[in-house]
Parts: sequence; C-alpha cells; structure tokens
Amino acid sequence: MPDRNSIEKREAEKEKDKVVVLDFGGQYSHLIVRRCRELGVYTELLPYDMPLEELKKGIEREKGKIKGIILSGSPFSVHEPNSPKCSFEILDLNIPILGICYGAQLIAYVNGGVVGEGRKSEFGRTELLFEDSDLFDGLTERGSEGGRINVWMSHGDVIERFDGADIIGYTMNSPVAAFRISISPYRACGVVGQSPTIYGVQFHPEVHHTDKGDKILWNFLYKICGCERNWTIESFVRDKIEEIKSAVGNDGRVICGLSGGIDSSTTALLINKAIDNRLTCIFVDNGLLRKGEKEEVLNTFKNNFKMRMVFVDAKERFLERLWGVKDAEAKRKVIGELFINIFEEEASKLGNVDFLAQGTIYPDRIESAGASSRNASRIKSHHNVGALPEKLGLKLIEPIKDLYKDEVREVAKELGMPPQILNQHPFPGPGLAARVIGEVTEDKLRVCREASHIVEEELKRSGWYDKVWQAFAIVGDDVATGVLGDARSLGRIVTIRVVESREAMTADFVKLPYGVLESMSKRITNEVKGVTWVTYAISSKPPATIEPC
Ligand code: XMP
Repeated sequence: MPDRNSIEKREAEKEKDKVVVLDFGGQYSHLIVRRCRELGVYTELLPYDMPLEELKKGIEREKGKIKGIILSGSPFSVHEPNSPKCSFEILDLNIPILGICYGAQLIAYVNGGVVGEGRKSEFGRTELLFEDSDLFDGLTERGSEGGRINVWMSHGDVIERFDGADIIGYTMNSPVAAFRISISPYRACGVVGQSPTIYGVQFHPEVHHTDKGDKILWNFLYKICGCERNWTIESFVRDKIEEIKSAVGNDGRVICGLSGGIDSSTTALLINKAIDNRLTCIFVDNGLLRKGEKEEVLNTFKNNFKMRMVFVDAKERFLERLWGVKDAEAKRKVIGELFINIFEEEASKLGNVDFLAQGTIYPDRIESAGASSRNASRIKSHHNVGALPEKLGLKLIEPIKDLYKDEVREVAKELGMPPQILNQHPFPGPGLAARVIGEVTEDKLRVCREASHIVEEELKRSGWYDKVWQAFAIVGDDVATGVLGDARSLGRIVTIRVVESREAMTADFVKLPYGVLESMSKRITNEVKGVTWVTYAISSKPPATIEPC
C-alpha cells in the first residue's frame, strides 16, 4: 500500500497555481470563481478572514502558488462595526489584488479614500467611462485613450474620493468607479519598494450584464497576475486520472458508493478510468430511489461500463429504521448511519480495501460548514461529508471536490456519461425521504415516487426539463376532500416543486405555463391512487430551501 507521505508529496507537486477570491459574503462571490475558471485559471474561494500567514505561505510556495487575490463584494457597508474585514496587510503582500464592489471600497477605505454611505446607490446597468490601463486593455480601439462600456452596478455605498489613487473609471454616480494604486499606506509609513498594482472596481465584471467583463477579468488574470492557463475540463480529467493512479498505486483497491446521481457516477467513472476493476462500486437500494432508477444504474454501470459492482437490496432495513421518525434531520441521521453500516458490512466482505471514493463537490463542502466562510451556518447535513472514512479506516479520495455542478457535468460528458445520467436533475443523498414530509411510509413513498415521475415526464414532454434546476413532487400527511365519482373522499395533497438555480445556493420557483401545471395536476390525481389535491410551491431559497426536509 502506498504510504501517506509520498501520496501527499506527489499531490502537492501536482498542485496548480491559482488565484484566490476572498469571500466577504457577496451574492456574486461564487460567480467570480466560476468566471476565472472559465477563463482558464484555477481559482478558489477562501474565507475573508483567512490568516495572513496562510496567504503568505501560498504566495511563497513553489507549486500551487497564489498569483493574485480578488476581494469579493459584500452585503455590508465598510462603516458597519461588524462588517467583514480581512487583514489589511494583504495589500502589502507583493501580489496583484483586484477589489470588486465592497472589496474596492475596503481598499479605498483603508488607504484614506472617502466611502460615502448609501447616498448615491446604483443598481443595474450603468455607463462607465474609462481610461487606458492594463485592466481595461483591449476594450477600445488601439491608440485611443479610453472608452465607454455598460457595466453592472449593485451597491449602496460609493467611493466619493480617493486621493493618491489613479482614477481610471467613473460613472454618473460613482466618481471613483475604477482605480489603481501602487503604494499602500504601509509603504508610505516606511516600507519602501515597488508594489505590484492594486485595482478596484465598483462594478461587477463577473456578471454577464457587464460588457466585456470577461476581458477585464482576463486582463487581471493574465496581464496583471501573469497566470498560466491551467484549468480546462480536458486537462482536469487528464491530471485527475494520473493523480488517482499515483495516489492509489499499483495494487491499491478502492470502493465507491454509487447512487446513480451525477456526482457519484462521475467519481466512479474517473476512478474506473484510472484503475479499472480495482474499483468496486457499492449500490444500495434503500427504497428511497426514483422510479426506474435501480434498473438504470445497474444497466449503465454494470452492463455498459462493465464496472465491478455490488448491489445491496436494503429497502426493508431502511423502512424499518425510518418507522416513526418524523424530524427531517433525524431522518437524515438514520439514513446516513444505516448507509454507513451497510457500507462497512460490504467493505469487510470485500476485504483488502485501502481507499474510499466520495463524490463530494465544492458546494457540498461549503454548505456543510464553511469552505469559504468560517461563520457559515450548517443548513442541512449533507451526508457525503460524514464520518465514513474514519469509521472504515480508509483513506479518502474525492476527485471532484473542487468542482461546481456544471463543471461536474462537463467532466462527465468528457468521460462519455450517457445523457440520461448526464442531464438528470440533482437528487439528494437521503433520496425521496427528503421529499416526504414527516414519517416515511411505504404509501407516502409510492405517492412521492409516482407523482415525481409524472412531474419529470411532463417537463420533458413540454421541453422544460433541461431548462430547470430541479423538479419533483412532495407529499406530507395533509389530506383534503375530493370528489371521486359521486362520492366525497379524503385524499393526499401533493405539492409540485420546480426551481431554477445556479449551484443550488439560491433558487427561485419556475414560472411554468399553466398548461404544463394543469397536465401535471390532472395526471397526478388520475394516475396516483389516493391523491385529491395538487399544489405548486412558490417559495424561493432563501427563505425556503429547495427540498422540504
Ligand atoms: P436545499 O434543500 O438545501 O438543497 O436547498 C440544495 C441542494 O442540495 C440537495 N440536497 C442534498 N444533497 N444530501 C445531498 O447529497 C442531502 O442531504 C441533501 N439535501 C439537499 C438538493 O437536492 C439541492 O440540489
């Protein structure tokens, strides 16, 4: 078995240079990361209060070096006593910095600029007049000294004055909409030397509504930070396969819990490409699967990809343990624990296993407590970040832990994943139990499964399935009167939930045409025995979450 030190050393050698985004809680923080990655530079989101020493170490490393720092936006004003503030000494780290919105205000604020509170807020598209600079290079005709573009603004406070900075852009309401400084006050206080340039923009280059926003970010990444292009899906797949090969060694064995969802499927496929049948996938039917899911997973991975698989029919064990459990978190706990037990049993039957592969993705790590914010509250415990590896005494492999959902889909496509798995909506670890409110019973599961299937079928038929993030049916214990034939009778209430979202951090209900909702409703009451009413969930996240439990 390969030793841990050599694995860690090899992994460190493979690390990519990167840009980091310090997250002050802005609504577009993730978008900044996504855009930079799309532009070809590996980018990570870090908490705003990342210790200076850590950043310093990152900058000084030979491999996996931090080449630039972006400060995100924030819902706070720099004047609020509890507003998030990073160590101001980052301005002195000898590395290019770009402040966006709040980030720009913070840089101005600590360098003697005047940030006015809420008097000239701007929301939406605004015309920016800019001057020639590295940041705006290529935005205008060669030789011209500046130009104008439409940019996206979303701010309450405004930088009113910033003496000592080069003002390189302004709008009607923002006299300092873009600036450049080369000398921080720390240097002015005695530390001498040429500092790299620090930029600030009041607008949001990461938002599509900003004309040529990508070019502005491109300039920062490539011209100002001197990054190399090191992030494409093809290179990710190639490097990951090599990384897995060297981490697992020539005779290491891996097990992977396969649920049929895109994350675990992509994880399994990547590992399978690297080590072939030294990977064994464990697929547990917990009775909480979607209609037809079991058959599809077995067919795809066992028959099509010829993977080594263990199938465990644990429907009854799960239902028995869920009996009488009503609370959402308690259900998750029961399901998570039983899943671990079954996994342990199967792993010990297999014997000789060294690694456990998990399909954890980037937003899982963030929602399950703070990859980017130390203070992030635990919203729901996503069970794939649990205690499985310690319990099993196995080393963990999480090949897609740095990826966003869209990136996982691109990786899956690159690996030849069939469209029915590639294009399916996300499905939660606790399965249909997340959509059955209150106690999970066989009858409620039947209603939820059948009704969800109808929702999906109708969306596919009407061309909406690929346009929405997630769609399913929810059932609880509420009943309502209906008329069946000539008789009045009580039946279950089914709620349809269809949401659009980016990365599931926020979501909005989809304004489906009434015709589509009507056919869903008709089919559910006609085809799913025991349902009298169908309703549509029209809450956004926040305050609601996507799943009801
Ligand atoms: P919520 O309901 O928190 O869901 O808005 C956000 C996204 O996560 C999925 N989800 C889960 N995934 N285990 C998972 O693996 C879970 O316990 C879980 N709960 C929610 C949900 O389907 C949505 O895509």
